[in-house]
Amino acid sequence: MSVRAALAAGLAAFAALPAAADEVNIYSSRHYDTDERLYSDFTETTGITVNRIEGTPEELMARMQAEGANSPADIYLTVDAGRIWLADEAGLFQPVTSEVLETRIPANLRSPDDEWFALSQRARIFFYAKDRVENPPKTYQELADPAWKGKICIRSASNVYNLSLMSAMIAHEGEAGAKEWASGLLANLARPPEGGDTDQLKGLISGACDIAVVNTYYFLRGKATTVEGLSEGIDSIGWVFPNQETTGAHVNVSGAGLAKHAPHPDAAIAFLEYLTTPEAQSYFADQNFEYPAVPDAAVGAVPASLGAFKADDLNLSVLGENQPAAQRIFNEIGFP
Ligand SMILES: [Fe+2]
Repeated sequence: MSVRAALAAGLAAFAALPAAADEVNIYSSRHYDTDERLYSDFTETTGITVNRIEGTPEELMARMQAEGANSPADIYLTVDAGRIWLADEAGLFQPVTSEVLETRIPANLRSPDDEWFALSQRARIFFYAKDRVENPPKTYQELADPAWKGKICIRSASNVYNLSLMSAMIAHEGEAGAKEWASGLLANLARPPEGGDTDQLKGLISGACDIAVVNTYYFLRGKATTVEGLSEGIDSIGWVFPNQETTGAHVNVSGAGLAKHAPHPDAAIAFLEYLTTPEAQSYFADQNFEYPAVPDAAVGAVPASLGAFKADDLNLSVLGENQPAAQRIFNEIGFP
């Protein structure tokens, strides 16, 4: 065999091996085992292997920053627009050109420069004790009404869900208005903030609070699965989608961005496009009883049981942009 022939044979053999392009590396802080099925379906359809590295959003962001241009990360996937925005601000993403993503994901659910895309939505709404509350508040603004003094439970202001809600309030009410609102809400707390969203719902059952501000999926988990201290009392809890006559209920998202130094950008975009097919969307959202980000994807039976609602259509990047001001105002008024 001539050297040339040997080389050609060698190259052919090399080409037959799975190329590096046939994989995609996802840095994910979303950990539902059930997402596995989505990933294996994607691999079956495309031949692209999905490698998942899990961690907290902070760990994964720090890792991407430390790895710099050598980072194997193709996609960063996390929960909460405020967190995705932080990664965007840190320069960890690059713009994606994809007609598929632009068509499927509404403009307010992706960054203005198409560096990240929402993949599922949750609403932060009111739940209330039906036996003690006849006329629950109908707007976020009403939470500051002295009529609710000592009645409201909400987790700590330092939690990113509340920072995002406050960021939305700043967008709608201005900084001064949002500060006054948060002061009113603080004065109405039933107890100093403690625990997560599930604990606020449990407070409705124990009698600690009459109103709780909580993400929809926590209530739905209590309804559709067994959550100790919640499921047994779930029928005593009512819900309100706030601001239906005005700005709509505050929504937040799971989302993903294309890593700045992605070694497999084509595979990564193919993966994002796959996650926005109506079928994958329904499945992805339903794992955590969330709503799809793509409008024509079916809402799961469990979240659908809450009824349809009007969502705030604020661009989600605002939730990040206003986050420093939200944090500062919470600090100024001593919201724990
Ligand atoms: Fe959560």
